[in-house]
Amino acid sequence: MPQALSIRTAPSAVQPAGIVVIYAAEGGAPQGQAAAVWASTGLDFAKVTAAAGFSGRQGQLLDLAAPEGIDARRLFVLGAGPAPGESRSSLAAWTDRGGSLSAKLAAATAESVAVVLDEALPGEVAELAAGLRLRHYRFDKYKARRNGDATPETLTVTLYVGDPAAADVAIADRMATVEGALLARDLVNEPANVLGTEEFAERVRALTGLGIEVEVLGEVELAALDMHAMLAVAQGSARPPRLAIMRWTGGKPTDAPIAFVGKGVVFDSGGISIKPAANMEDMKGDMGGAAVVTGLMHALATRQAKVNAVGLIGLVENMPSGTSMRPGDIVRAASGTTIEIVNTDAEGRLVLADVLWYAQQRFRPRALVDLATLTGAVLVALGHEHAGLFSNSDELAQKLTAAGLVTGERVWRLPMGSGYDKQIESRFADIRNSAGRPAGAITAAQFLGRFVGELPWAHLDILGVSLGPPHTETNSSWATGWGVSLLDRLVRDSYEAP
Ligand code: BES
Ligand code: MN
Ligand code: ZN
Repeated sequence: MPQALSIRTAPSAVQPAGIVVIYAAEGGAPQGQAAAVWASTGLDFAKVTAAAGFSGRQGQLLDLAAPEGIDARRLFVLGAGPAPGESRSSLAAWTDRGGSLSAKLAAATAESVAVVLDEALPGEVAELAAGLRLRHYRFDKYKARRNGDATPETLTVTLYVGDPAAADVAIADRMATVEGALLARDLVNEPANVLGTEEFAERVRALTGLGIEVEVLGEVELAALDMHAMLAVAQGSARPPRLAIMRWTGGKPTDAPIAFVGKGVVFDSGGISIKPAANMEDMKGDMGGAAVVTGLMHALATRQAKVNAVGLIGLVENMPSGTSMRPGDIVRAASGTTIEIVNTDAEGRLVLADVLWYAQQRFRPRALVDLATLTGAVLVALGHEHAGLFSNSDELAQKLTAAGLVTGERVWRLPMGSGYDKQIESRFADIRNSAGRPAGAITAAQFLGRFVGELPWAHLDILGVSLGPPHTETNSSWATGWGVSLLDRLVRDSYEAP
């Protein structure tokens, strides 16, 4: 059982706790209630911090055991200054602060913690709570509890704030998004033997309880819709394809929705164009785009967002077998475009081609955003710091970029253009599914663009940001849940009724 985390708020006047936490800005002494807490130790702040080499930089910790005058085992003074060399929005800095605190509490095997935050605004308190929760997340359900593990069963964190009622509202709202991100992490971390296409669809069906309408299409329906590109990917696997559709109607029923499409390859072996063995286990995470869409829908419903949104995820498994698609095969996508499959490992775009087309035909959305762990090339270009953004709309691209700067889930726009079409020309069909090494992330986007009409559309290639990047302040698990906060912010700022 992972440790339970309980976060509550209380008005200032700190009650006894195992650990009391106060913040100090870079080069400054604690303020407000924190100043009073420090004063009760009777220690000289300037002297102690100078001796300990504590400057107040973000992430720094001054740890006093058995502090005089305070009913606590330890007093933590945490740096609240800017982290070195990072340009984070001020809100994202609070999320990081929460994450960093969570890690320090875990190391101290804390059970009850009092955090003095009377100087922080409700939105800042909510970000700190979000960071605590995000970093606290573990995916350890398959690990036996070690003997002598001293981790208490519950960690209770009390945030002492100026206005608890306002903080509670802000925290509840922010936690809806956090829970969505944690759902996305759970889905990505889950191994493919446990989370196949049908199992994923069942997890989606469970969202019905939140007021989301869920529909799941199977092989027969997909064939009737002529989704032969998606079906080609699925045909080599013993597991059947599923197209899961989630609808949240928080706006006027007649308003066009914003649509989100996710690549849901539950395992990508490469198929007949099989991948090398090294790191192939990571391919259980090739449904990262679908996980983000699912997490986002969870978040929108939980916080009762005043928007109409639809999420569509194409769930397939890409396996080599006697029934697999072959290099050289030609399939007709639902749009009517024929595709020569020259590399069975470029399967994500085959799935997205049909799901993107279907999303537009059926829902006539006002905007369309897809997410996919699509190309290794985007990792080469942007590493783990930015997702690749491709769009036919400067306005939508700008909105996504702005949302990323607020949440810290940053995107970087890469170009598209008809010049790249040469690379996806096929000798036999309208297009081919692989275009060689140059500009691999761009030619993938260019391929997807062939299945998108006039509406504002953005494609996020999230391979570099969704799995296995170096741990951050807000995540110590393999899957990041990257994108749920970003898209939730996009919806809030640009599509939701006030
Ligand atoms: N699922 C992979 C991309 C991937 C790689 C995701 C590593 C997560 C970790 C995708 O389907 C793929 O195989 N892409 C190929 C495309 C190529 C064959 C055109 C790639 O990027 O090499
Ligand atoms: Mn592949
Ligand atoms: Zn893939």
